Amino acid sequence: MTVLMMVVFLELLVLITGVVPQSVILPPAVCAMTHSTVTLGCSFTPRITPIVRVRWCKDHPLCHKTTPTVYDSNRTKSNSRFLYLGDKTSNCTLQIQNLLKPDNGTYRFRMEATEEAGHFTNQTGVQISVKDQTVLSINTSSDNGEMFEGQDVTLRCTAPCTFYDLKVTWLKDDHTLSETSPTLHISPLTAGDSGNYSCSLKKSLSHRYQLQVTATGQQSELPLILGVTLGVSVVLCGVILVFIFKRKPAAVDDHQAATAMELEPQVRDITTPGDVSLNLTPHSCSQLTHVTTYFLVLAIC
Ligand SMILES: *[C@@H]1O[C@H](CO)[C@@H](O)[C@H](O)[C@H]1NC(C)=O
Ligand SMILES: *[C@@H]1O[C@H](CO)[C@@H](O)[C@H](O)[C@H]1NC(C)=O
Ligand SMILES: *[C@@H]1O[C@H](CO)[C@@H](O)[C@H](O)[C@H]1NC(C)=O
Ligand SMILES: *[C@@H]1O[C@H](CO)[C@@H](O)[C@H](O)[C@H]1NC(C)=O
Ligand SMILES: *[C@@H]1O[C@H](CO)[C@@H](O)[C@H](O)[C@H]1NC(C)=O
Ligand SMILES: *[C@@H]1O[C@H](CO)[C@@H](O)[C@H](O)[C@H]1NC(C)=O
Repeated sequence: MTVLMMVVFLELLVLITGVVPQSVILPPAVCAMTHSTVTLGCSFTPRITPIVRVRWCKDHPLCHKTTPTVYDSNRTKSNSRFLYLGDKTSNCTLQIQNLLKPDNGTYRFRMEATEEAGHFTNQTGVQISVKDQTVLSINTSSDNGEMFEGQDVTLRCTAPCTFYDLKVTWLKDDHTLSETSPTLHISPLTAGDSGNYSCSLKKSLSHRYQLQVTATGQQSELPLILGVTLGVSVVLCGVILVFIFKRKPAAVDDHQAATAMELEPQVRDITTPGDVSLNLTPHSCSQLTHVTTYFLVLAIC
C-alpha cells in the first residue's frame, strides 16, 4: 500500500515538476577469483545534465569530496587495473583487471553535475568478493579415491566463483598435465594413474612485458666521428703520396732486389706438372705491385 502510494507520488512529481528521478543501476554481488577480470555493468540516469565528473570508490558510502577513488574522470593518472568503460551520459561500466585480494569490498559510483543538486551516489553499491586459490577443491564421483583398473573417473576442479578468463591447470604429483578444462576425465584407469592430483587457476597469457629503449646522445656523435676519421685519412693519404713520389726510384730498386730473391723459388715450385704455370718475372711483378699500391692509395684517398 505504502509502496504504491510512493510510486504514485513519484509519478505525480515527475508529471508536475518534469524532474526525472536520478538513478545508478548496479549488478548484484560479484564473486571472482584472484587474477581474473571482472566487468561491472552499470548504467545511470542524471537529474541534471551535463554530468561533468564521474568516479568510482571502494568502501566509502558517499564517494564524495576527497575520498580516495579507483577511478576519477578529473584525474589524469589512475590505477591501470581499473578501466572505466563508461561515459558521462548514461554508462558507468567499470572493469577491474587482474583482481587482487585487497580489491575485495563494496564499490560505489558517483556522478556530479555543475550544480550540487545533480550530485548523486547510489549508496547500495556492488559487492565484490575476491577468493584466492586456497578455496579450490576437487570433486569426484569416487569419494575415497579408490578405483580399479579399467574403470574411469572424472575429477572436477571447483571454486566458489566463476573462473571468468582463467584457465585450469591440472597437476599430478606436481607434474603439469595437458588438460586445461575444469574437468579431468581418465579412462580407462591403469595402475600408473595412481597419485596425488590438484588443480590451479592461471591466466592464459602472461603479463605484458614492456621493453622501452631510450636513445642516448651517442647517435648524434656519429657525424663528428666520421668527420674526424675523414680528415685524418686525407692528411695521411697526402703524406703517403708525397712519400711515394719522393722515394719512387729508390723504392723500385730496393723492391726489385728483394722480390728477385724471394719470388724465384716460389715460381719454380708452382710449375710442377698439373699446376697452373705462371710466367711472372720479378721485374714485372715489382712494377705491378707499385702500380697497385699507387691506385690503392688513390682509391683510399
Ligand atoms: C541503487 O542500486 C541498486 C542496485 O543496482 C538498485 O536496485 C537501486 O534502484 C539503485 N537506487 C538508485 C536510487 O539508483
Ligand atoms: C572536474 O572536471 C570538470 C570538467 O572536466 C570541471 O568542470 C570541474 O570543476 C572539475 N572538478 C574539480 C573538483 O576539479
Ligand atoms: C556500457 O559500456 C560497455 C563497455 O563499452 C558495454 O559493454 C555495455 O553494453 C554498455 N551498456 C549499455 C547499457 O549501453
Ligand atoms: C570482502 O568484501 C565483502 C563485501 O564488501 C565483505 O562482506 C567481506 O567481509 C570482505 N572479506 C574480506 C576477507 O575482507
Ligand atoms: C560435488 O559433487 C557432488 C556429488 O558428487 C555434488 O552434489 C556437488 O554439487 C558437487 N559440488 C560442486 C561444487 O560441483
Ligand atoms: C600422496 O599424498 C600422500 C599423503 O600426503 C602421500 O603419503 C603419498 O606419498 C603421496 N603420493 C605420491 C605419489 O606422491
